[in-house]
Amino acid sequence: MAVFLGIDIGTSGTKTLAIDESGKILASATETYPCYVPRPLWSEQDPEDWWKAVVATVRQVVDSAGLKPDDVKAIGLSGQMHGSVFLDKNDKVIRRAILWNDQRTAAECEEIEQRAGGRKNLIKMVANPALTGFTAPKILWLRNHEKRNFDKLRKVLLPKDEIRRRLTGEYATEVSDASGMLLLDVAKRRWSSKLLSALELDESLLGRCYESEDVTGTLRPEVAEQLGLSPQCVVVGGAGDCAAGAVGNGIVAKGVLSTSIGTSGVMFVHSDEVKIDPQGRIHTFCHAVRGKWHMMGVTLSAGGSLQWFRNALCKADIEACKISGIDPYEVLTDEASRVPPGSQGLFFLPYLSGERTPHADPDARGCFVGITHAHTRGHLVRAILEGVTYSLRDSLEIIDGLGVPVRQIRASGGGSRSPLWRQIQADVFGRKVVTINTEEGPAYGVALLAAVGAGAFKNVVEACRATIRVVSETAPDRAAAKQYDRAFPLYQKLYRSLRDDFKAITALGD
Ligand code: XUL
Repeated sequence: MAVFLGIDIGTSGTKTLAIDESGKILASATETYPCYVPRPLWSEQDPEDWWKAVVATVRQVVDSAGLKPDDVKAIGLSGQMHGSVFLDKNDKVIRRAILWNDQRTAAECEEIEQRAGGRKNLIKMVANPALTGFTAPKILWLRNHEKRNFDKLRKVLLPKDEIRRRLTGEYATEVSDASGMLLLDVAKRRWSSKLLSALELDESLLGRCYESEDVTGTLRPEVAEQLGLSPQCVVVGGAGDCAAGAVGNGIVAKGVLSTSIGTSGVMFVHSDEVKIDPQGRIHTFCHAVRGKWHMMGVTLSAGGSLQWFRNALCKADIEACKISGIDPYEVLTDEASRVPPGSQGLFFLPYLSGERTPHADPDARGCFVGITHAHTRGHLVRAILEGVTYSLRDSLEIIDGLGVPVRQIRASGGGSRSPLWRQIQADVFGRKVVTINTEEGPAYGVALLAAVGAGAFKNVVEACRATIRVVSETAPDRAAAKQYDRAFPLYQKLYRSLRDDFKAITALGD
């Protein structure tokens, strides 16, 4: 029997799953861990928590699927992108990892643009502008603010690549995740020596960069024993969670776009060539498909906005749900489903962590605008679902504007499991959205990459063709779509009206 594991080191938890050669899921397990917010708009995690979750979930999957060590032929790794794991000369983690949704590096982004000879030049070198969540500004932040830590620094790894190091002993990454470090020449798919030297950073800080399906190493014998696997088990490059999720959704050819609502929200489209948004509003990264690229827009707090609402304001419901066994999100979306489209004039701007696409504004803040006595909790929830979806439409309009064809929209991620949120997507986009037979996202995508790397499929496209199919369709409701078309320009205007006030709020201090 040949089995492949996919491991996804997410922000809220790590998920591991096992598939067989036909792509059938044999077992899956998830472990959660905390995210630290030492200051507003900062976001950190402890890489040791990721490792513990990897060990626990792999062992659970091996046990529950009854796998023998030799069954598992290959592992694919996925994870939250952009996070910085700083290692010293003994491979000790120097400080907590700074995550993708951390906004502390605005000054370093300016420094990068300046050192690169301006924004245009920077985009020429690495296909993207400097954004606060990306990895390169975090390295400069360490140099500017924690000099003693910077002096100890020998390697910077992305979250899933730190797990690779612990599994295999190799310092390595792959092109999709490396693109989000802002240090990769995305067009040539190799580290940008030009930008590295402009930033006075040594290439030895970085791991070796592979294509996503390539084998990057084998398990260290002691780790193989700890996990119940064989030391012959290979670890392939894998992918950042966006590209991995896209493979898991079959977004590996022209014309198909995925919307994914997890903690963040991602609009992801495949591209056969490198297309760059000259304004840098959406990202151009290497895809996990050999020699291909993708474009994507990112809403930093998508499911994260609803999660914030649940945690901050619905403690009593969470407790009640523990007894009833009902998911608190179901209680909330049920209330929202009784509110009409447009939430009776209530708007929500989902900028709880600042915003990436389309504003690239670390100072942006979340808001409800338009509350009246008529509004209930259901209105607040519906406004959140709508505000996040408007933000995804911002990305869709940029993608459309760049002439990238979109013939089908596939909805995925935890948020899209809600029929209400899928309907709101169809209505806000004014287009049909479909779902596919697997909901496992990035972990499934990298399990497929592992299967390709081990030779079970000829390539990623063939792997997706053999395993992924459309199972449901949600068509837009005409009246609701019309209502959202009228409301969307107002949603867009609210950011412009408030932009300066957001900056003033930041200037007030914590
Ligand atoms: C992508 C991004 C997020 C994280 C979430 O650019 O920042 O989607 O990868 O895990």
